[in-house]
Amino acid sequence: MDPEYDERQFKIAIVGGGIGGLCCALFIHHFCSATNVKVKIDVYEQAAQYKEIGAGVHIGPNAAKLLHQIGIGAQLNTIAGFRRGVWLTFRRFDNGAEILTIPAKDEGPIRQAPVARAEFLDLLVKATQERDAATLHTGKMCKSVKENGNTINVSFADGTTITSSLVVGCDGIHSNIRGQFFQDRPLYSGRVAYRGVIPIADLEEWWPFETFAVSFLGPGKHFLVFPISRNQSLNIVAFVAVPESELGDLRESWTSKSRRKEAEIDYEGFNGTVRRLIKLLPSEISKWKLNDREPLDDWTFFGGKVVLLGDAAHAMLPHQGAGAGQALEDGYILARALADCLSKASRPAEVMTRLEPYMRLYQDVRLPRAKRAQQTAREAGLVYQMKIPDCAELPYDDCLPIVRDKLKDRMKWIWSGNIDEEYDELKKARFMS
Ligand SMILES: Cc1cc2nc3c(=O)[nH]c(=O)nc-3n(C[C@H](O)[C@H](O)[C@H](O)COP(=O)(O)OP(=O)(O)OC[C@H]3O[C@@H](n4cnc5c(N)ncnc54)[C@H](O)[C@@H]3O)c2cc1C
Ligand SMILES: *[C@@H]1O[C@H](CO)[C@@H](O)[C@H](O)[C@H]1NC(C)=O
Ligand SMILES: *[C@@H]1O[C@H](CO)[C@@H](O)[C@H](O)[C@H]1NC(C)=O
Ligand SMILES: *[C@@H]1O[C@H](CO)[C@@H](O)[C@H](O)[C@H]1NC(C)=O
Repeated sequence: MDPEYDERQFKIAIVGGGIGGLCCALFIHHFCSATNVKVKIDVYEQAAQYKEIGAGVHIGPNAAKLLHQIGIGAQLNTIAGFRRGVWLTFRRFDNGAEILTIPAKDEGPIRQAPVARAEFLDLLVKATQERDAATLHTGKMCKSVKENGNTINVSFADGTTITSSLVVGCDGIHSNIRGQFFQDRPLYSGRVAYRGVIPIADLEEWWPFETFAVSFLGPGKHFLVFPISRNQSLNIVAFVAVPESELGDLRESWTSKSRRKEAEIDYEGFNGTVRRLIKLLPSEISKWKLNDREPLDDWTFFGGKVVLLGDAAHAMLPHQGAGAGQALEDGYILARALADCLSKASRPAEVMTRLEPYMRLYQDVRLPRAKRAQQTAREAGLVYQMKIPDCAELPYDDCLPIVRDKLKDRMKWIWSGNIDEEYDELKKARFMS
């Protein structure tokens, strides 16, 4: 037995301290602090620090709402960019003319929150520490999980092992924990992405649009920008269709690099606004190969003692800006299920007899919604680049009305949706009929 294992506590090991892992810790702390059985949460992050490399990530209102519920929504708004009532204005790649503008309600406190990953992660780390929600460990790369009677042993690359009652695998798209149960099959999207951030101050003088949330759509290419960091920075992500055979040694990695010159060449045919933005990027920028994974049918292992969450469970393409939001929804529902499970017990040992049905409840509430987000993200990538079957052989101008129609209501179900209601209904069906 791990010498630190305490029979009186319900120990939870969160593996991976990214956005999904830290939010999961905060949600569990929020929902499970008042239960009879005390929880002890540890987060194990492989990196040497809780730090992110700077680029943007989008938090939609569905996810922002959950952060408001645990008292960090106002802080979220203080680091977010402001989209001026526009989620995205889709524009022609050549002359910048409007294709369609999707409004975003942003008057109220719960709103679209495009953020810098580093600033958002800092906020989550601080909230975790201030609330004493979890113990944060660094330099802990999980190699494997093993069933050890009623507990799970988690082994790390540094040779140490810890024992826990529940392990939540939040270790991202390359998840080792998922890899233990499924063979990893990366699926290439047909697209690569360049990424970089520039100061908005450099473009305020000449920027031609009302908002900084713009996506330029061209055949086989699209160019997305949105404001982060209180409107101080513009996040740029440029997508280009490239056949797999021409990828060279480009990796599926957030940290692989390329020269800006490559992007300049790729976007030669785009509007001057786009070309000017590229010139403002540093000479070396990020470039990565966009893959996702097929939806899984199972995120629950070892009798509910190991579950997956976030990208580890449902890696998706970034085209709907929904990956982080889906990870947050997972953490929120997992915490609700755990709170319900714990509230029926007076000792940790009793919890173990009911853990599996509650972890399956978490999975079954979340899986269909996350799967739909994975599938619609794939389709969105094709729509943005006029590669949908309906546009086959059609000239650009004739394809635009089809694209407009496919974009108009795409995001509604992701931003709305009542996950509390979904949870309550399935719980009732399972446990109270
Ligand atoms: C550097 C980076 C850049 C990204 N950029 C974008 C982007 O531009 N657009 C976009 O849509 N999405 C991006 N994502 C993905 C997006 O952030 C996720 O979809 C979302 O935040 C859900 O995250 P997650 O917590 O499930 O996974 P992640 O954010 O990937 O976090 C996983 C965490 O687990 C840690 N970890 C991994 N393996 C282990 C292990 N074996 N043991 C312990 N810890 C481990 C990682 O270091 C990381 O901190 C990026 C992710 C990363 C890490
Ligand atoms: C779990 O870890 C403990 C030591 O930390 C060890 O005694 C035990 O044998 C391990 N169990 C398994 C199944 O590996
Ligand atoms: C920047 O954000 C503020 C609100 O935070 C907003 O009032 C202002 O219009 C924004 N500026 C731009 C250029 O979008
Ligand atoms: C590029 O787009 C902007 C904004 O719509 C527009 O004013 C400009 O005329 C466009 N340039 C060309 C060459 O079409």
